Amino acid sequence: MKTALIILAAGKGTRMNSDLPKVLHPLAGVPLLVHAMQSGASLDPEKTVIVAGHGAAEVRKAALAHDATVTVTEQTEQLGTAHAAAQARDALQDFDGTAIVLFGDTPFVRPETLEQMTEALRSHDVVILGFEADDPARYGRLITRGDDLERIVEFKDATEEERAITLCNSGVVACDARLLFDLIDAIGNDNASAEYYLTDIVSLARARDLSATVVTCDEAETLGINTRAELAQAEAAFQARARATAFEDGVTMPAPDTVHFAFDTVVGRDTVIEPNVVFGPGVTVESGAQIRAFSHLEGCHVSRGSVIGPYARLRPGAELSEDVRIGNFVEIKNAQIGQGTKVNHLSYIGDATLGSGTNVGAGTVTCNYDGVMKHHTHIGDNVFIGSDTMLVAPVHIGDAAMTASGSVITSDVEPGALALARAHQVEKPGMAVKLFEMLKAKKARNQRGS
Ligand code: UD1
Ligand code: CA
Repeated sequence: MKTALIILAAGKGTRMNSDLPKVLHPLAGVPLLVHAMQSGASLDPEKTVIVAGHGAAEVRKAALAHDATVTVTEQTEQLGTAHAAAQARDALQDFDGTAIVLFGDTPFVRPETLEQMTEALRSHDVVILGFEADDPARYGRLITRGDDLERIVEFKDATEEERAITLCNSGVVACDARLLFDLIDAIGNDNASAEYYLTDIVSLARARDLSATVVTCDEAETLGINTRAELAQAEAAFQARARATAFEDGVTMPAPDTVHFAFDTVVGRDTVIEPNVVFGPGVTVESGAQIRAFSHLEGCHVSRGSVIGPYARLRPGAELSEDVRIGNFVEIKNAQIGQGTKVNHLSYIGDATLGSGTNVGAGTVTCNYDGVMKHHTHIGDNVFIGSDTMLVAPVHIGDAAMTASGSVITSDVEPGALALARAHQVEKPGMAVKLFEMLKAKKARNQRGS
């Protein structure tokens, strides 16, 4: 069965107290919205429609940056969840299949749960995702009879008796797309909030003798973010799960609470992650690597047997082959580093290709930016770059070449050549002693004068 996703993301998120639309607040390195998009993407939807409203331009940009194939529609006035879902109608005009409605501020719905919902659609017309709430607070309550769902009542509209129900509405809906829009057409706003409630589709379906049911999941899955405190709790929950998964995958972390993962971090077996390591989005680390303390990695790949840090920074486009060493206070950006190559101390390698078996001395800088454009540095195999070499890009260092310490390399170096590009040393015998005497005398005169 074909699937279409409708992700509601128009709400203001007043309680975030922020200029940034709520769904763009980051969780595990990416906007909340991207988490919802990701869980929905597991169903391999034919179409994804995101309903934006507050900060629509920014929401559109972020959504398209994550997946350029999605459609973003705008709900100019927030009249309720049914009204929001209705905004997807045009985009799904020619779509035949199942529609799944997700909330952009609800990041943890698992793919397996969505599959269970589509499964339940085989025998029911409307499927709602519910959960047993520890504290049902202001959630909508699910009124069931046996396996059947009769209706959903919003907290504001519920009687005392209904409020005592602990089976709550997560907001996720699965329903044939045409039926969904048909039911939405019949929804009114005669309720305590004067809003068009998507939840009303259940009673409307039942009135037409259609069937509705509930699929339940763990409360943790339906956690919706409304405040910054909840965002922090969600982050903690995400990190706890990511650490547990890393342990199961055979990763060693002596201080797991200090290791921070992104939504898509992949770490191989027998890799050691020391304390205080942060992963931004897009990192893969192969097996048997070592990420030493206080390192920051983002958009990079670390191959088997490599050792990173302590205090290293790998930025987007850093591609490290096997057995590479990246040491303290080294930054690597958009650079391929060949097998067994070492950049051990205080260096910046950006927009570069380094061969294998090369050694880069302390304080080396690829001068990649001329103030307007970026330029490439190529360093071959088995090269020795002397400490404090400035490589002014574009520049090409041949295999097995050497640069002398302190060189400013502005032209290409032939394979096997030694490049010396520094001022000649001048020596003046006895001059240091004289200079000291002169300076001391001057200081003494100054002190007497004052
Ligand atoms: C909704 C459900 C409630 C459920 C709860 C779970 C309805 C009527 N109620 O209530 O049963 O227990 O979620 O968290 O559906 N949105 C729009 N446009 C609008 C209104 C909302 O895009 O006009 C979006 C919001 O951005 C948000 C989502 O829909 O992502 C839910 O809206 P919200 O106002 O938070 O619904 P709740 O009152 O929490
Ligand atoms: Ca909410």
